Amino acid sequence: MNLVLQCVILLFLSFQYEASRAVTSVFVKKGHDVQLDVKEDDVPEDFSFFAWKFNGTKHLVSFVSAGKPRVSNLYTGRVEFLTYTVKLKNVQETDSGVYTAVFTEDKDQTAAIYSVTVQAPVSPVNLTVDSVSSSSDSCNLTVTCRTQDSHISTTFTCVNQTCSEDGDGSKATTSAADLRVYLENDSINCNHSNQVSWTTNQGAPEIQSFCYQQAKESRSHVAVFVFVPVVIIIGMLFVI
Ligand SMILES: *[C@@H]1O[C@H](CO)[C@@H](O)[C@H](O)[C@H]1NC(C)=O
Ligand SMILES: *[C@@H]1O[C@H](CO)[C@@H](O)[C@H](O)[C@H]1NC(C)=O
Ligand SMILES: *[C@@H]1O[C@H](CO)[C@@H](O)[C@H](O)[C@H]1NC(C)=O
Ligand SMILES: *[C@@H]1O[C@H](CO)[C@@H](O)[C@H](O)[C@H]1NC(C)=O
Ligand SMILES: *[C@@H]1O[C@H](CO)[C@@H](O)[C@H](O)[C@H]1NC(C)=O
Ligand SMILES: *[C@@H]1O[C@H](CO)[C@@H](O)[C@H](O)[C@H]1NC(C)=O
Repeated sequence: MNLVLQCVILLFLSFQYEASRAVTSVFVKKGHDVQLDVKEDDVPEDFSFFAWKFNGTKHLVSFVSAGKPRVSNLYTGRVEFLTYTVKLKNVQETDSGVYTAVFTEDKDQTAAIYSVTVQAPVSPVNLTVDSVSSSSDSCNLTVTCRTQDSHISTTFTCVNQTCSEDGDGSKATTSAADLRVYLENDSINCNHSNQVSWTTNQGAPEIQSFCYQQAKESRSHVAVFVFVPVVIIIGMLFVI
C-alpha cells in the first residue's frame, strides 16, 4: 500500500480512537442519579466482552457477547443498564472518580470515559455588617459573609451615594465551593456556590440604608447642636 495512504488511514484511526476516548466531566448532586451514555455506534456488534468500570478496577456491570448483563455485587440495586448506557442511582461522594465503558473486539478498547464528581449542596450563608463609618459625603461599610467552613470580609466605599467594592478580595474558594460578596443595585449579596448548588443571603441589606442612616444621625446631631443654642439665644433676646 502507498505510504501516504497508510499514514492517512493511521491518522484517521488514531483520531477516531482519541475522539471516542474524550473525557466527559459530569457533576452530580449527592443522592441524585447519574446516567452515563455510550453511543451504540461506538460498540461493534461482534464484541466478545463489555463492561463499565469504576476507577479502572471495579466493575459495575459486565457481559459477554449475547449474554445477560451481570451487575456486580458491589452495585446491586444501584445500577440500571440499557444498551450500554448505565444509570448509577443515589450517588455518594465515594462514587466520584473515572467511569469507563470498555469492550473487547480483537483488543481491549474504550467506548466512553466520564469523570464524575459528586458534590453535596453548599451550606447556607450568614451575612453580617461589621462596621459602618460614615461622613457627609463618604461611607465605608465592612461586611462578613460566613458559611460552615469559610468566611470573607469585604469593605464597600460610597462617595456621593455611589458605592463600590474596595479592592478585589471579595472571593474565596474552598474545596470546590466559591464564596462571593458583591453589590447588585446597592443591595449586598453573598453567594455560596459549587457546581451543583448555590445559596444566598435572605433579604440582601441595602448599603444606602446603613450609610444614609449614619449620615442622617450625624446630621441630626448637628441639628441639635445648632438648633438648641439658637432657640436659647432667641429666648434670651425675648426675655431681655
Ligand atoms: C477514584 O479515583 C479518583 C481520582 O481519579 C480518586 O479521587 C478517588 O478517591 C477514587 N475512588 C475510589 C473509591 O477509589
Ligand atoms: C448570623 O451570625 C450572627 C453573628 O454571628 C448571629 O447572631 C446570627 O444568629 C446568625 N444568623 C443565622 C441565621 O445563623
Ligand atoms: C473611607 O475610607 C477611605 C479610604 O480608606 C478614607 O479616605 C475615608 O476617609 C473613609 N471615610 C469614612 C467616612 O470613614
Ligand atoms: C461629590 O459631589 C460634590 C458636590 O456635588 C463634588 O464637588 C465632588 O467632586 C464629588 N466627589 C466625587 C468623588 O465625585
Ligand atoms: C436591578 O435594577 C435593574 C434596573 O433598575 C433591574 O432591571 C433589575 O431587575 C434589578 N435587579 C435586582 C436583583 O433587583
Ligand atoms: C449564585 O452563583 C451561581 C454560580 O455562579 C449562579 O448560578 C446563581 O445564579 C447565583 N445566584 C444569584 C442569586 O445570583
